[in-house]
Amino acid sequence: MKTIFSGIQPSGTLTLGNYIGAMRQFVELQHEYKCYFCIVDQHAITVPQDRLQLRKNIKSLAALYLAVGIDPEKSTLFIQSEVPAHAQAGWMLQCVSYIGELERMTQFKDKSKGKEAVSAGLLTYPPLMAADILLYNTDLVPVGEDQKQHLELTRDLAERFNKKYADIFKIPEVRIPKVGARIMSLQDPTKKMSKSDANEKSFISLLDDPKKIEKKIKSAVTDSDGVVRYDKENKPGISNLLSIYSILAGVSIAELETKYEGKGYGEFKADLAEVVINTLKPIQEKYYELINSDELDDILDRGREEANKVASKMLKKMENAMGLGRKKRK
Ligand code: TYM
Repeated sequence: MKTIFSGIQPSGTLTLGNYIGAMRQFVELQHEYKCYFCIVDQHAITVPQDRLQLRKNIKSLAALYLAVGIDPEKSTLFIQSEVPAHAQAGWMLQCVSYIGELERMTQFKDKSKGKEAVSAGLLTYPPLMAADILLYNTDLVPVGEDQKQHLELTRDLAERFNKKYADIFKIPEVRIPKVGARIMSLQDPTKKMSKSDANEKSFISLLDDPKKIEKKIKSAVTDSDGVVRYDKENKPGISNLLSIYSILAGVSIAELETKYEGKGYGEFKADLAEVVINTLKPIQEKYYELINSDELDDILDRGREEANKVASKMLKKMENAMGLGRKKRK
């Protein structure tokens, strides 16, 4: 069976973007692949985090993975910092990364732009991500479009390591969904929807209540021409809302355009809000059942054991390839 690895940062409550771009794929794929889903808390601390909030977000993300439909009998769900091989392998991969290629990452450029003090971790974020993936003999990495460049670097690092030291890594493929790979901000539809956006109105959190969802969709930025039509270039706001509607309701964009012909944005937005509310309702119900349960900790304990077993094997291979430590005594 082929293997999948993917991760999400516990840097805030997940958004509809995370759900559409990443998690929905995870749920489908777990039936065909051996899956590892990770809560990448070490990536989250590349920017400042409040310690109590981070702990809360980690638990909350675990509950959300399960609430959207990750089945712990099929998939391994675990926390990155509970599997020390990630940081160890991340260090080794940093040593095969070039500063120039890390500085060229758009995420690094975006997150460091205009900041006086930028952590070294923000720069060395991609080799840690490569370690996450490569430790599990991963075949496929399902992510949203914004992670594509990091995946390309992961493949480069794996190839470089294989050539320079020993041929131990599988070269992973990226899997980006055909639709919904980049859900945009509701307030600035030229920017991606992000859970760490300071403006709460720009995203829909998976835990927003119906009133909030209605309000946020109602105030989503559109345009003044009043026609519900997909045109990414000239009507980015409406196009983004149409994408969300189409994906969640399972109706094509063309059908939606016909349905709302001659109708205003008000009606379209009200219906979209209903679709979003109905999608999130069962997820939220499951989430609140899980969040304070022992079941959650049991699943994470099991995930930690399983992940450590697999990752420590590959770590050993990496250490042998690079000549770290000592040879095993007879
Ligand atoms: P993160 O936490 O920013 O996002 C988690 C997943 O959600 C996708 N995503 C989106 N998809 C569509 N539209 C959006 N607006 C949107 N926003 C986020 C992301 O592409 C991602 O798939 N570096 C990663 C975490 C990571 C990882 C890994 C992923 C660490 N190690 C190994 C895969 C494999 C990140 O910051 O994702």
